[in-house]
Amino acid sequence: MQLTTVSENITTKFYKDVMKGLQSSSKYLESKYFYDDHGDDLFQQIMHCDEYYLTDCEMEILKNQSADIASTIFASEKSYDIIELGAGDCSKSVYLLRQVLKRNKNVTFFPVDISKHVIDLIKEELPKKVRNLNIQGLNGEYMEMLKKANQLSIKRKLVLFMGSNIGNMNYKQSIAFCKEVRSSLKPGDCLLIGFDLKKDPKIILDAYNDKQGITREFNLNLLKRINRELNADFSIEKFSHFPVYNPENGECKSYLISNCKQRVFIGDTEFINFDAYETIDMEISTKYSIEQINHIAGKCDFETIEHFYDSKQWFVDALWKCV
Ligand code: AVI
Repeated sequence: MQLTTVSENITTKFYKDVMKGLQSSSKYLESKYFYDDHGDDLFQQIMHCDEYYLTDCEMEILKNQSADIASTIFASEKSYDIIELGAGDCSKSVYLLRQVLKRNKNVTFFPVDISKHVIDLIKEELPKKVRNLNIQGLNGEYMEMLKKANQLSIKRKLVLFMGSNIGNMNYKQSIAFCKEVRSSLKPGDCLLIGFDLKKDPKIILDAYNDKQGITREFNLNLLKRINRELNADFSIEKFSHFPVYNPENGECKSYLISNCKQRVFIGDTEFINFDAYETIDMEISTKYSIEQINHIAGKCDFETIEHFYDSKQWFVDALWKCV
């Protein structure tokens, strides 16, 4: 009974967000809804695409520098609990968790993810990779779950927000987000946050337009999800994937373009009209300069402890401490 109520609430929220986005004068959909079970699978495939360099860069940082990161964090404190926002498959954090366990046996790891499927997988798979780690999976929105982790643990916190998840916000939103994270933390708590850096625009654009068409499928999958869960009738072949990168402001944006004038029903009575070549703004993936990253830290009352780069200097994990 309770389960039905929860899933009805989620569907209602999904419906409201979809209608709000599609009824807006510039149509948009929220990229957090990409991640249904098939979306999770597609994102895993994207991370293994040749063109999608972000995962490899950050993986290199975590594989090679986790001992340094852990030593820097534990230089002044003995005990932290770790919260990972948008934990995914933990394939990167696993390296840091092993190093942390060497220095702090009693650590509790709170992986947070919007996808229940992802949290269930972590609970099943992570204990095989990191033995003796206390794991408390939290399925839900970042800020709510961060507050929940704070209720469950009174220890100092290390928050991980990796994978350039911050990039899925524009610059203003990323400042508001970091301020909100900061307001849930105490002086001495740390944040390790991954930023994709500005680089050759062709490399960036290719990462969101892979030759195999997986990113295209990832975007279109949200229309399929709306069809299935909200009883809509999007004709998927009538929309095209169109990513663009603006090197001036570092914004890489993915659009779906309506190939023709068309009407799409969402449920039995509500409908959305599309003009030919009208856009749906699907996702932003912002790329940063080091100056911008330092500016965000300062604005949000964090002190920069260290920047950890990959060998190409395409990506940085910034270690910030709350002041
Ligand atoms: C999750 N996020 C950081 C990815 C990104 O690069 O913006 C999502 C993604 N979208 C298309 N490819 C990857």
